[in-house]
Amino acid sequence: MELRGASALVTGAGRGIGRAIALALGRAGASVTGVARTAADLESLASEIQRAGGRAASYTGDVRDPAVCAGAIARAREAHGRLQILVNNAGVGAHAPVAETTDDQWQRILDTNLTAVFRLTRAALPQLTQGGGHIFMISSLAGTNPIAGMAAYCVSKAALDHFAACLMLEIRPQGVKVTTLAPGSVDTGFGGESRSGDASWMLRGDDIAAAVLDLLRTRDDALLSRVEMRPLRPARRP
Ligand SMILES: NC(=O)c1ccc[n+]([C@@H]2O[C@H](COP(=O)([O-])OP(=O)(O)OC[C@H]3O[C@@H](n4cnc5c(N)ncnc54)[C@H](OP(=O)(O)O)[C@@H]3O)[C@@H](O)[C@H]2O)c1
Repeated sequence: MELRGASALVTGAGRGIGRAIALALGRAGASVTGVARTAADLESLASEIQRAGGRAASYTGDVRDPAVCAGAIARAREAHGRLQILVNNAGVGAHAPVAETTDDQWQRILDTNLTAVFRLTRAALPQLTQGGGHIFMISSLAGTNPIAGMAAYCVSKAALDHFAACLMLEIRPQGVKVTTLAPGSVDTGFGGESRSGDASWMLRGDDIAAAVLDLLRTRDDALLSRVEMRPLRPARRP
């Protein structure tokens, strides 16, 4: 896809992986709409994209709210024209054994990581199918690798993977690509965690962003529907 001038929306663009993807898209000439709950993060992202010569818009809101999903997609069109790239990245997790997982925790994770993706994607499809596009699902290796103490998160990503696979079959004939990108550990503040100890072995947000750009540049008639990404060397356990 020609990235210069392409309208792109990235959820969870305020920090971590989403911010890295949004910046990389902006630097490559795409017109980016960032979505997150923290306005200050989006303002600083937009300034950085604009300093790099790109175009940026923001939409502040919680993707668990159906009106925010519809509003964000509409905002992208209004700011930058027909949406061509949708990056479903916003996600949350929690460490809790099933016996201690509350209804609220379970619902927060499923609503953010799965239901919001469905709603954002459904709202974006009329634009994407008008002339082609590319949807990215930022999943996780946790979608295929079970982790004790993270059932809600693992289930949300497993369901996301299957949702993406069904969607891909549905909309590929209309020229819309769907790629599931499943990283292992990435050095971000995911879930409000501050990484203690040596994080140098982990993937970086920029690694995921570089993969997104590579995938967008594959030949129009070729689709990489699932990509797993791992740190080359596993963590050194003390
Ligand atoms: N870090 C890892 O090791 C890792 C590995 C594999 C996959 N992933 C996946 O990668 C994605 C991004 O993770 P990350 O590590 O970059 O996380 P992060 O550093 O915690 O950033 C998450 C971003 O999502 C936004 N967000 C969270 N909940 C939201 C909501 N309800 N509505 C709108 N925005 C929301 C946050 O902003 P606000 O709080 O301001 O809303 C923030 O900008 C997630 O889907 C995660 O599951 C992460």
